[in-house]
Amino acid sequence: MRMRKKKNLGMRMEACAALWVKDPAQMRGCWREKKPDAPQLRLELGCGKGRFTAETAAAHQSDLYVAVERVPDAMVIAMERCRELGLTNVFFIDGDAAELDRYFAPGEVDLLYINFCDPWPSVKHARRRLTAEPFLRGYRKVLRDGGRIEFKTDNHDLFEWSLFQFPKAGYALSEVTRDLHANGVQGIMTDYEEKFYSLGTPINRCVGTKVELPDVPILEGLSRRLPEWDIREVQGEDLEAVFTLLQSAPDDLALDETQPDLDGLREDLAALPPRCSRSQKHDVVFWREGRPEAVLDWVEGYPREQTLWIGLFLVAGPWQRQGLGKRLMSALSGAAYDGGMDSIRLACLKNNEAGHLFWEAMGYRDLRKDVSTDGKAVWIMERLAAPDEE
Ligand SMILES: C[S@@+](CC[C@H](N)C(=O)[O-])C[C@H]1O[C@@H](n2cnc3c(N)ncnc32)[C@H](O)[C@@H]1O
Repeated sequence: MRMRKKKNLGMRMEACAALWVKDPAQMRGCWREKKPDAPQLRLELGCGKGRFTAETAAAHQSDLYVAVERVPDAMVIAMERCRELGLTNVFFIDGDAAELDRYFAPGEVDLLYINFCDPWPSVKHARRRLTAEPFLRGYRKVLRDGGRIEFKTDNHDLFEWSLFQFPKAGYALSEVTRDLHANGVQGIMTDYEEKFYSLGTPINRCVGTKVELPDVPILEGLSRRLPEWDIREVQGEDLEAVFTLLQSAPDDLALDETQPDLDGLREDLAALPPRCSRSQKHDVVFWREGRPEAVLDWVEGYPREQTLWIGLFLVAGPWQRQGLGKRLMSALSGAAYDGGMDSIRLACLKNNEAGHLFWEAMGYRDLRKDVSTDGKAVWIMERLAAPDEE
């Protein structure tokens, strides 16, 4: 929403100080103190000038209502509206919907409204839409189990696209309509809604209810993302092929200063980090047209419960420097995220400058220097596991 700068904005905001929560992070986990008898905390994202905010808070005065808006010039109008109505159950955050988990504790919110969010029509900007899967997954953190998101928009394409995002992010859809007011006005209208309704534009609405999001096993998630490869756990009969793959990358082996042999490889594959069980470790080979192109081993839940540890990752010599490593590791990040991991960690040999640059380009950052179990100096590197890029 582009808005002309309001005159006296600061003074007008201060005049609404009773409704304006300047440091929302301090309220995290204690919003209910603002209205201890409130059965529900309702949260609105991008309230704009607040017609819906004021009327909904007025219609449900027993509930606590919080509105987030990142444009103060719009928010001040919403606050003034609520102040004029004498509402005491509504509060405003001049902040960003992407940061909800800084403002609210897990499960603190019962109901979330997204009304006429900016459609960001270009595919390039799809991730900015407030109904994009990463946003919806973010809202899960603050929404209680069984909590609802009520979404309205005039934008047909955004609506159809969003209907695919909700289930992927763990919401069951209901009350889906593409013409909410077909039989007369339903519910409270927003400022944008009123405008579009008067122009005859049909209004779309749906409800997403937070349901359990089953973790997808990481190997399955990888295979889905990389259908060109047959990704299989290493079996005894694959050992020679894996050994040949390792030897096809002599520069990488030289960094390790050990001469691999089949027995050593067998031992490496069987080795487990401290306190880990066999079921946490996966050694896989990426086969394409019968040839092994890369080998990867990871441990789920090491060293933290939601960390995935990469033990070995090597692309065969002939396929190096063609973007293969980047593709496989991007897929691993998405698969780890869907598998319930929140971070990925690894040890990169300190003398492996090319490797360090690769991991940095993949978003890994140095956590600390360390010494590996076999006495080599390493960088411990980590990144967040993240949903797939569009
Ligand atoms: C198209 S307007 C709709 C306003 C209101 N919901 C309505 O229906 O009349 C979208 C509003 O969302 C706000 N907004 C967009 N992205 C936001 C974000 N990430 N966090 C908070 N507000 C956001 C914009 O500043 C704008 O006021």
